[in-house]
Amino acid sequence: MLDAMSITIRPATERDLPAIASFARWTYEKAFGDGFSPEDLAHHLNHRLSDRYFRDAAARDRFFIADVDGQMAGYVQFGPGDGKTKDSPHRQIVRLYVHPDRQGHGIGSALMEAALADKSMASADAIYLDVWDRNDGARRLYERFGFEVIGGHNFITATGVVMGQDLLMVLRR
Ligand SMILES: CC(C)(COP(=O)(O)OP(=O)(O)OC[C@H]1O[C@@H](n2cnc3c(N)ncnc32)[C@H](O)[C@@H]1OP(=O)(O)O)[C@@H](O)C(=O)NCCC(=O)NCCS
Repeated sequence: MLDAMSITIRPATERDLPAIASFARWTYEKAFGDGFSPEDLAHHLNHRLSDRYFRDAAARDRFFIADVDGQMAGYVQFGPGDGKTKDSPHRQIVRLYVHPDRQGHGIGSALMEAALADKSMASADAIYLDVWDRNDGARRLYERFGFEVIGGHNFITATGVVMGQDLLMVLRR
């Protein structure tokens, strides 16, 4: 449940993209940085979460931002994603990140609800997402929304280290 704080969920505009990119890099590093070598972490931040990545992604995906007291506290990226799932029509929750100081207050759930309710997702028979098998908290949240694991593949870093599995989850409707 949301605490008594002033939270607003709004669609991002093009002007928000640099702030989303910085927020994504910072949150990722805080959440997962300790588990990677400096080379692998830098590769992920510079390739998968670069400003350019977000500019390109915005051409196909949508972003919602959660503002708390006027400051970005989280965001969700959703849409066709990179198309690695084959069902048609389908959609993906591409990323869901909440500021570490704001986690556990319902913001992630509110962002997920907003994304699933967006009309761009309404026609999808199936909504997919990837989650790291070591990310128990996120996995629990997704299961609460009805996502179930349907597969997985080794998560291999840029330098070739196997870091467990990337699980594929689906919400059918
Ligand atoms: C996963 C994440 C988006 C959840 O956002 P949130 O705002 O904390 O989630 P909510 O408060 O709406 O829901 C809490 C649920 O999230 C999960 N959760 C994950 N990380 C948590 C944390 N640090 N604190 C509290 N709950 C967390 C739990 O399942 C919790 O459910 P529970 O009450 O059954 O234990 C957020 O923790 C986050 O950004 N984590 C780092 C990045 C990440 O892992 N993103 C997902 C990548 S697949």
